[in-house]
Amino acid sequence: MTDMVTNDVVEGRGRLFDDTVRTLIRREGVEDLMGWLAKTDLYRAPASSRYHGAYEGGLVDHLLDVHAELRRLNDAYGFGFTEESMAVAALFHDLCKVNCYVPDTRNVKDENGVWHKVPCYRFDEGFRYGGHGSKSVYLVQSFMRLEPEEAVAINCHMGQFDATTYSNASAAFEQCPLAWALHVADEASTYRSGWGGVDG
Ligand SMILES: [Fe+2]
Ligand SMILES: [Fe+2]
Repeated sequence: MTDMVTNDVVEGRGRLFDDTVRTLIRREGVEDLMGWLAKTDLYRAPASSRYHGAYEGGLVDHLLDVHAELRRLNDAYGFGFTEESMAVAALFHDLCKVNCYVPDTRNVKDENGVWHKVPCYRFDEGFRYGGHGSKSVYLVQSFMRLEPEEAVAINCHMGQFDATTYSNASAAFEQCPLAWALHVADEASTYRSGWGGVDG
């Protein structure tokens, strides 16, 4: 029963992700990207191994949550981002995390000193690109063209927490408001769902 409920919830979130993408993104290649994603673990993947969204379906929850945060920031600051660009940047910023987290178990001692096996995720990256935001940019652009500011935003979304953007993200933020806003939306989502600091 629990599994059925879990499956319903996971599939419901997956449908919401699909509907949001197809409603807001009308760009050539998006169906090819969605077709590839359907063959990955996107809909069941966690957002991290032990910090934020470390549960089945956590990655899709995180992507939808960042999208909502980004739309709120756009309203609050009056940036004027298009709905399509916000959807592309937010919903695809962490595609680098698909096919990376393998369900596993670990031993945990309870208060009586008895060991139990509990479920966890083990990080085992299927395709090692050597970057985080840059890997998401590569994966999206393998199917669908990104506008320059969308590419900058996805590439720099980790800001100072990614060694590859550590020294130049702030310069990118200055020139590209979408990049700053995506970074802040990602931080807000990560903070609210179990702060891990470096796994956004
Ligand atoms: Fe993220
Ligand atoms: Fe990320």
